[in-house]
Amino acid sequence: MLESLTSLVQLKSVEWNRVERKLATCGDVGDVRKLARRQLPGGVFDYIDGGAEDEISLERNSSAFRDAVLHPNVLRDVSTIDTSTNVLGVARPTPIVLAPTGFTRIAHPDGELAVARAAAAYGMPYGLSTLGTRSIEELADVATAPLWFQVYVWKDRGLVREMIERSAAAGYEAIIVTIDTAVLGRRERDVRRGFTLPPKIGLDTFVDGALHPRWSLDLFRHEPITFSNVAGMSGIDGGTAITLSDYVNDQFDQALSWESLDWMIEAARNVGLKVVLKGIQRVDDAERAVAQGVDAIALSNHGGRQIDGTPAPVQMLTGVRDAVGSGIQVICDGGIRRGSDVVKAIALGADAVMLGRPYLYGLGAGGQRGVSWVLDHIVSGMRRTMALCGRATVGELTPDLVTQQLWRSPPLQR
Ligand code: FNR
Repeated sequence: MLESLTSLVQLKSVEWNRVERKLATCGDVGDVRKLARRQLPGGVFDYIDGGAEDEISLERNSSAFRDAVLHPNVLRDVSTIDTSTNVLGVARPTPIVLAPTGFTRIAHPDGELAVARAAAAYGMPYGLSTLGTRSIEELADVATAPLWFQVYVWKDRGLVREMIERSAAAGYEAIIVTIDTAVLGRRERDVRRGFTLPPKIGLDTFVDGALHPRWSLDLFRHEPITFSNVAGMSGIDGGTAITLSDYVNDQFDQALSWESLDWMIEAARNVGLKVVLKGIQRVDDAERAVAQGVDAIALSNHGGRQIDGTPAPVQMLTGVRDAVGSGIQVICDGGIRRGSDVVKAIALGADAVMLGRPYLYGLGAGGQRGVSWVLDHIVSGMRRTMALCGRATVGELTPDLVTQQLWRSPPLQR
């Protein structure tokens, strides 16, 4: 009897690791997002998850991918799928880059170090934010992932030059100049919660923290979260509670223009760094960026966190690619949650894509393991989609694979 039962029923092995056990119940990035929502205090989750104003751009970024339709070929040899491609002049295993995100340690005490370790396993470049919570050098010491450094343009140009030089000395490949943040977008979830960096301990945060004891304990057990790259240099280093908008509006250069961009490009080139211009949202600006001589442009609306009501970057790809030709690399970010989204973006003309929130959800849900889960999910989804589309290499991801229905997306259910 027992023998016949065991031949029918295979017992599941027990997963003793709590994080792995939870991740094993996740089917997609949406599930990891829910897990992160349970682990993190509401204000922290909303800081990561939220967008500007009515969150129209935020929702459109994802719905644009859902509205893009794949037209698969059949009966093609897909016995070997090759996701490798050239990104910024280097052969990489995938066209995926991890986007810079500020204040990363708020999601998990390992912060950027965990993200870089997970990225290394996939050979993915990782962009450290100027507003990162690990310094340029700390990250370089542990990272085997290729590193890029994201630069916001501080009024204090000496500070900017110093950060560019430090990243070159630490072995980074490129700078990402983010140009969509002259002032900070109005993130109304943060406004409603009175969210500051680091979080101020009021009664509401105290209650929120008590409801998320693991996160709170981690916060108190580890060294304080600061803006490690500008610590002690820019008046406020993250040790003082301040709203991000006050900080940005006070420190960043609102007078930055195409003319002053030359200075930045020259500073990077002088120390051998490539330049990615992040935050392009129009064809004429893309053309101007090419004329200015950057190495790549990143079509991005900052994950819908800056100006609201803009197109999804994936909706800009065809027009921008037609205008700029093949002489410059185009990176697309915003709303990528699946491997099939990566396939769609590449087919529509991107050379690479960047992920922001997906890896932050993974980090909040389970540190490095959570980030690895997300990266694995997206890469394996990319491979599966390529196989099901009859396209074995990245070079075969061509515009005929996708049609887009623009501007007709219903809002996401939250
Ligand atoms: C960001 N982003 C961002 N971009 C940048 O250039 N510098 C930064 O410091 C930050 N900080 C940041 C924090 C958080 C919490 C998020 C979610 C995003 C934008 C980021 O680089 C990228 O453009 C978007 O995240 C891409 O959209 P998805 O993948 O989040 O939909």
